[in-house]
Amino acid sequence: MPAAAPAFSLSSGAFAGVPADVLVAFVPEGAGADAQLDALTGGALASLLGGTELRRKAYETAWLPIVAGKAGKATRVLLVGTGKADDLTTERWRRVAIVAGIAVRQRRFGSLACLLPAGHDRPDVVQAVVEGVAFSAIDLDTYKTADRDTTPLAAAAIHVGASTTALSDALKRGAVLGAATNEARLLANEPGNVLTPKIFAERAQALCADTSLEVRVLDEAAIKALGMGLVIGVAQGSIEPPRLLTLAHTPKGVTTGPILGLVGKGVTFDTGGISIKPAEMMDRMKDDMSGGAAVIAAMRALNQLNAPIRVVGVVAMVENMPGGKALKPGDVIRGASGKTVEVLNTDAEGRLILGDALWYAREKMGATHLVDVATLTGACVVALGRITSAIFGTPEPWVDAVRKAGDVAGDRLWPLPLHEEYFEQLKSEIADMANVGGRPGGAITAALFLKEFAGGLPWAHLDVAGTAWVDDPKPYSPKGASGVAVRTLAELALNPSGWAAPTA
Ligand code: BES
Ligand code: MN
Ligand code: ZN
Repeated sequence: MPAAAPAFSLSSGAFAGVPADVLVAFVPEGAGADAQLDALTGGALASLLGGTELRRKAYETAWLPIVAGKAGKATRVLLVGTGKADDLTTERWRRVAIVAGIAVRQRRFGSLACLLPAGHDRPDVVQAVVEGVAFSAIDLDTYKTADRDTTPLAAAAIHVGASTTALSDALKRGAVLGAATNEARLLANEPGNVLTPKIFAERAQALCADTSLEVRVLDEAAIKALGMGLVIGVAQGSIEPPRLLTLAHTPKGVTTGPILGLVGKGVTFDTGGISIKPAEMMDRMKDDMSGGAAVIAAMRALNQLNAPIRVVGVVAMVENMPGGKALKPGDVIRGASGKTVEVLNTDAEGRLILGDALWYAREKMGATHLVDVATLTGACVVALGRITSAIFGTPEPWVDAVRKAGDVAGDRLWPLPLHEEYFEQLKSEIADMANVGGRPGGAITAALFLKEFAGGLPWAHLDVAGTAWVDDPKPYSPKGASGVAVRTLAELALNPSGWAAPTA
């Protein structure tokens, strides 16, 4: 049951033939009026752009009526400012397309056509615009029974000057990656009472039912039998039992080469456990499974787009609660890798479940390269704010490859160090290590904790605590889950030539 998405198509030629209610024109600062479009508006476009009212800064919008009967189905032109033409990066394209889609839906129109100016009808732009329109089409009002915000966007055309044939792959990629981003957003938006670990696993299975992914769900007994005491430890304070979700993508005939392992934190609600969090903003902790949602959505997307390498996904799903059986500060638990951990703070639960999940990805699923995604530390939010996710890992070429994928995908990633001296902060008197290392460098010690479970494989860790949720909305980013990391993970699998040795 994938999320609703518009039907995307490519068009070219006369605007009159474009099958859409609204023609969206993207206008850079200083740009003049397109003659063909101006004719449709009876000269209103040239008049508007000739005046001072639309500066064409990024995300500025204006509406113009189309003279009756001049453009087939279309009755309106929507102008969207793009800012300076030189600033039109793929990320800017993605964002102006989001703004266009939101504006069209707010006015209760059901379809749009994005007119790409000459010279911009490139595959990367088509993909970004489609991703943006898809992003705008999400229904964020699933729990409202009245005042539901907008009409669904049924169809979106991308109108290009030249031939459309070379762009159909880009259209498909954009549609799949945009839909996947929304799937992750919808999962992360779900309240904790709805999305328990059991339901999270079921939703993932349902989402992947129409793919060739091999999906498995391990229940509490199976997790225990594997000795995954870190997952069990976190889960034991809740009446909701844990789940371990695994997904595998195997391209036809591929039996050698790298196996990319994507590992996600799936804490469906994080109260902090016995080290309980303050009440204020605790509701936010329903999104503590954003990393897991990103892994699931990325796996679906890379499968639909036929990633050329094998990829496995592992999501550890738990609810962190202060029940009668909950972990207590000072408890010592043992993970499946054999390492023991002194739990000095039960609110540092993400690293515990990820420790076992990383172990599972490499020991049980054969991963050769690892990336984990987690809303892991408040310290990361302090360090990088809400714009940029932190990336950690080793060795450097692997971290660089993940950073490059992030650049292409439009997720901001910035490296923080993993110098071994920090590890001293995790020393325990009675166990192999403690699960917290104090406030200084809190995002770094969390990452170093995870590194202990990566088994020396190429491994990267994305701390998305600051980026998974939007509190301060922007024209291109509504409040709620952001879908961070979905496209980065998919990109890594879809374009492995930069990091994987060619397979035989
Ligand atoms: N899920 C939180 C991290 C988090 C904080 C995510 C804010 C999003 C926004 C994580 O489980 C946590 O509680 N981390 C603790 C670790 C500390 C106890 C060492 C934190 O950052 O306070
Ligand atoms: Mn926590
Ligand atoms: Zn957490």
